[in-house]
Amino acid sequence: MSVLHRPASQKATPDRTPVVALDLDVAGVHRTIWLKLESHNPHGSLKDRTAETLWESVRNRVHPAEGVIESTSGNLGIALAARCAEHDVPFTAVVEPRTSPTSINMMRRYGARIVMIHRLDARGGYLLNRLAYVREQLLARPKLVWTNQYENDANPQAHRERTAPELWKQISRPATVMLAVSTGGTLAGFQQFVQRHRIPWTVVGVDVEGSFALVDEIPGTRVLTGIGSSQRSAFVRTGAAPQVIVSAGEAVAACLLISDVAGIALGGSSGALIAAALRWFHVNRHDDTDIAVVCPDGGDRYQSTVYSAQWRKENIAVHRPAPHVEVLRVHHGHRESSGS
Ligand SMILES: Cc1ncc(COP(=O)(O)O)c(C=O)c1O
Repeated sequence: MSVLHRPASQKATPDRTPVVALDLDVAGVHRTIWLKLESHNPHGSLKDRTAETLWESVRNRVHPAEGVIESTSGNLGIALAARCAEHDVPFTAVVEPRTSPTSINMMRRYGARIVMIHRLDARGGYLLNRLAYVREQLLARPKLVWTNQYENDANPQAHRERTAPELWKQISRPATVMLAVSTGGTLAGFQQFVQRHRIPWTVVGVDVEGSFALVDEIPGTRVLTGIGSSQRSAFVRTGAAPQVIVSAGEAVAACLLISDVAGIALGGSSGALIAAALRWFHVNRHDDTDIAVVCPDGGDRYQSTVYSAQWRKENIAVHRPAPHVEVLRVHHGHRESSGS
């Protein structure tokens, strides 16, 4: 792969994260991937935006002593813990063994109460048991409020009204936009923005082996956190968006590649997006449309997993991405929309 880095021209604020362009040589053809780096949000992930709209949707119902509960694989928990701390209300994060110790420590630093669910569900994940615990608590404590990222329209709203318009302003060009899927909130928000404003984007959902998020079941075992789900997305209709399914090995190999050649440490689901983009370029050789990927978080939360040789040896077979891909240049920051 060959990369181009462009100069940074955008300051990250809670509502604005930078875009980096990777110029690639894919089997002799010049292609561009735009990376929107959501790790630049104040608490390090895309879920900062979701936490903000979820909080707004429930704030009038929050009891100061009972507070808020949410099931989380990490990023939303960190963002909600920070928001609840700001408003001085208790927050309970229902997590699982795959949640990284870094994320748990961050939630604790904001005063969150952590409930770890150790029991695997029938679908090889923990989500169904995390949700069962949340429901039990709601029955036992009627004043407790659940933000419910799985069904609350405030989840896609964050991306329909903020993330997607922001990316459109930054790149202003036709593109294939790839989004990692867990609850499906990001994907649904982008689909809704594109439909409502007739934006010339093809929106693609990227999922992992072993997930039930977009179809009834994709065979395989899920080892990455943040991407994939034990249940169908309540926000995305079957067949509503093209899909690419990648293995954990491909996702991790793409993280290592981008870290080596571009010096950008991405999280596992961003690696899945890069792997999907490279595959898309190979399959759609004659389509010269750029690809944009919304990278939900950065490598800081994955030092003991994706970026640990020991973890990789124990958990996955790392596949190198498709051959003949060379990073030509990496442009940090915004590229003028008239460029190609
Ligand atoms: C690591 C990670 N992967 C994927 C996603 C996409 O998740 P969802 O489908 O819930 O919007 C997120 C959301 O922020 C995330 O933090």
